[in-house]
Amino acid sequence: MRLHDKHVLMCTGPRCTADGQQAETVFLALGQAIDACPGLRVKRTRSRCFAVCKQGPVMVVYPEGVWYRQVDIDAARRIVDEHLLQGRPVEALIFHRLGQGDVDGETKA
Ligand code: FES
Repeated sequence: MRLHDKHVLMCTGPRCTADGQQAETVFLALGQAIDACPGLRVKRTRSRCFAVCKQGPVMVVYPEGVWYRQVDIDAARRIVDEHLLQGRPVEALIFHRLGQGDVDGETKA
């Protein structure tokens, strides 16, 4: 396996979008955006359900543990540019943070 600094997981499960089709399209666009930045060392993986289906398409970036919701193609490109390249998570799209909980204050124990 190639060396990577970050791991992006994207749900392409059946409930985030109709049969995961929109999410799959975003996943492919995400790969193109990552590949366009040769300096990035990012592993990208499809996942099935994260059990937060109403907020899909859902993407998670590790090691930060930042959870993004409603990620369309424009959002995926923005996450690549701002978060993966520049190290600034896209606050407007984040709904959960590893170790901190939900950003809307509805963290469940
Ligand atoms: S199908 Fe995507 S989170 Fe459930």
